[in-house]
Amino acid sequence: MTDVDMRMPRTQPLLSRREIFALIREDLARVEREIRTDSISSVDAITAIGQYLHGSGGKRLRPALLLLSARACGYQGDLAVRLGAVVELIHTATLVHDDVIDSADTRRGRPSTNSRWGNQVSVLAGDWLYMQAFTLSLRLRDFHILDLLTNLTQMMVEGELLQLDYIGHMNLTEDDYFELVNRKTACLFSVCARLGSVVAEASSEIEARLGDYGWNLGMAFQLVDDILDFTSSATKLGKPVGNDLGEGKVTLPVILALESAIPEERVLVETVLRERGYRSVPLQAVLALLEKRNGIERARRQALAFAEKARQHIAELPESPYKGALHSITELVVERES
Ligand code: IPE
Ligand code: IPE
Ligand code: MG
Ligand code: MG
Repeated sequence: MTDVDMRMPRTQPLLSRREIFALIREDLARVEREIRTDSISSVDAITAIGQYLHGSGGKRLRPALLLLSARACGYQGDLAVRLGAVVELIHTATLVHDDVIDSADTRRGRPSTNSRWGNQVSVLAGDWLYMQAFTLSLRLRDFHILDLLTNLTQMMVEGELLQLDYIGHMNLTEDDYFELVNRKTACLFSVCARLGSVVAEASSEIEARLGDYGWNLGMAFQLVDDILDFTSSATKLGKPVGNDLGEGKVTLPVILALESAIPEERVLVETVLRERGYRSVPLQAVLALLEKRNGIERARRQALAFAEKARQHIAELPESPYKGALHSITELVVERES
């Protein structure tokens, strides 16, 4: 199909997470099989890590987004499944490298690859996963897709480098933060939604709209992730609470709280950043500060605004259960607890 007819938006009942995944259950199962076979290497360590990662779960949000976006554009074929595996492999590679960079002990509630296999093996396994993703996408012989994926990967790597630069910095601005989130998370969400329209051969206008939808959804997703880092529990998160600040990362709730904080309160944050953890300052004191200065509430309002923007970008897609699912995901992302 080359274009999508425009109709007036109609309000639809929200779908639950289960209903959304039910719409693409078979395709997602095929993505899983594809990832499993794609993670096999002639070198045992790679296969072991690939299987470990694959078995550790993950929400599979990115392939789901790609599949739903393709279906919302009327697509029925196999390419979306293959690209679903590609984006999940890229996502996995970034997580493996990210955990090395952050010296993270846990990921998805299990020991991270770096804590099990060490940094050296993990860096190489991450590289291998990236290249596997590109090998698969190369088979499609589509320069537009390769262009999207290479730009994306560079943006994400630059985001990680930028974040390294910002570690321990208390005076991060909202703009600095948004640029990081753009690169770290929103870009990948945007590419996932765009790729769905690309395989469906939708118009460039639809591709741009889905890209904007995915981008805003990704921004909302990361903002919520940064809020949950303070408000959720270690069991739900699969990593410790207050982890970001303890790693030296200043996120939106902190940036917003600091805007109206008094010098004594700023010192609390400064101390956690300097000590790289909650040694002299307990996590509870930081949580109280965020509460008092409305950091969480204001960050949440911004997340809701991104989710609303995302919905607006798909309002004119033709009505279908898949469009309903894309719409519902924007609500689920801001309501999620883990
Ligand atoms: C983790 O993403 C990295 C961020 C962008 C916060 P997810 O929360 O989607 O990770 P999994 O794949 O479900 O573990
Ligand atoms: C996750 O970044 C990795 C990418 C999105 C590239 P973070 O370091 O902020 O997230 P977690 O907390 O480890 O999942
Ligand atoms: Mg990390
Ligand atoms: Mg990181």
